[in-house]
Amino acid sequence: YFSLGFSTFEFDVILVFRVDFLISVWFLIVKSFPGPPPHWLFGHVLEFKQDGTDMDKVVKWGQEYSYVFPIWFGPFVSVINIQHPDYAKTILTSSEPKDDLGYRFIEGWIGNGLLVSEGQKWFRHRRLLTPGFHYDVLKPYVKLMSESAETMLDKWESYASTNEPFELFKHMSLMTLDSIMKCAFSCYSNCQTEGGTNAYIKAVYDLSFLINLRLRMFPYHSDLIFHLSPHGFRYRKARQVTLSHTEEVIRKRQEALKEEKELGQIQAKRYLDFLDILLFARDENQQGLSDEDMRAEVDTFMFEGHDTTASGLSFILYCLACNPEHQKICRKEIMEALHDKETMEWEDLSKIPYTTMCIKEALRLYPPVPGIARKTTKTVTFCDGRTVPAGSVVGIGVFGIHRNASVWENPNVFDPLRFLPENIAKRSPHAFVPFSAGPRFVLT
Ligand code: HEM
Repeated sequence: YFSLGFSTFEFDVILVFRVDFLISVWFLIVKSFPGPPPHWLFGHVLEFKQDGTDMDKVVKWGQEYSYVFPIWFGPFVSVINIQHPDYAKTILTSSEPKDDLGYRFIEGWIGNGLLVSEGQKWFRHRRLLTPGFHYDVLKPYVKLMSESAETMLDKWESYASTNEPFELFKHMSLMTLDSIMKCAFSCYSNCQTEGGTNAYIKAVYDLSFLINLRLRMFPYHSDLIFHLSPHGFRYRKARQVTLSHTEEVIRKRQEALKEEKELGQIQAKRYLDFLDILLFARDENQQGLSDEDMRAEVDTFMFEGHDTTASGLSFILYCLACNPEHQKICRKEIMEALHDKETMEWEDLSKIPYTTMCIKEALRLYPPVPGIARKTTKTVTFCDGRTVPAGSVVGIGVFGIHRNASVWENPNVFDPLRFLPENIAKRSPHAFVPFSAGPRFVLT
């Protein structure tokens, strides 16, 4: 407030007004949405032990409190957590903006790109970038992805001979980073083979940890307190690493494109990638993206395009390892689709329906984005008539919806047949939302 030029008196008035507003929202939420009793100061934060049981705890609360209940982050900040498709539908089909809690913390890292932006800005960018997801752009990516996967599998073969266990997720992160760098930015980084710790990946792990911590520690919701803390210092250091990584990618391409004035000229020489589309994007007034917007979109795609897929792939392998009977069927199906070929091609992707169901079932049990949130701009009425006031943060608990026992029989069991077309038809379209739904449905 001070940086906006408010005096101390005005600051007090704003504070009183805000506290007043928060208290009224507090009463409305507590009255309408019973939930697990919060600690008066810490809310539910102390319940989260970060020991691998937190998600199960939230699912259990869902069962106890009719699949919609508040989670308190401190004395005033609450997120109304939804774990039922019927409630989720109300929010996902609306155009309510992203919340200003989690997404604000992410914005400091990846900028105001497609994931975070709102209103006109989001709409303009989404329209400008949609050509980047045309099948003709995506098809050549299959070969590039196969090459990245092959590099990873070669490394795993050497591990197999030693019989030593290893952490799979790091390998997946490097493989998906390698993929997105090649597919979206035509950058051959050799990040999988260079050895040592990749600075960008390490920074992504650090930033993910710090944003999660910031969400849970409510004093860190204040920019001032967070940035003055040692965690804030660590955050800025990691942010600098990701920023340099992104800027280097853009700078190299701008140099390489000095000669080409149109997309057609590039297309004559090579496949178009996402970065070409970004650099040449023009709206009806022939306005392109500013340098800052460009950086935000590259940062968004660099992060969102590798971390989610690394998590998804890791859990797919985990599920198949735990369920060898399904793994066997997938293997047979893939071998048949391959015939004598070494790797899959675009056309083969439709020939592996059982494997596709296994992938969906793994995304149900372990959604890479376990929750998203919106902030209401007006009173929202749910299917049962209960309302949340304007200014409330509503979380769509993707993990909780996917484990909701009133929607999924034996929700913790890996059963790919849930995704047979006839079974899908029996469920709400909002029962399975790993990629969200509605206007902000993921582009992939
Ligand atoms: C398993 C893989 C993925 C999952 C589960 C996933 C999940 C999601 C979800 C749930 C959202 C909605 C977030 C919200 O509403 O707040 C989202 C948005 C987004 N994702 Fe992903 N994603 C995946 C892969 C990717 C990839 C590969 C890319 C890019 C190459 C990508 C780019 C984006 C972008 C740009 C948005 C914002 C879309 C918009 O609001 O217009 N995602 N993703």
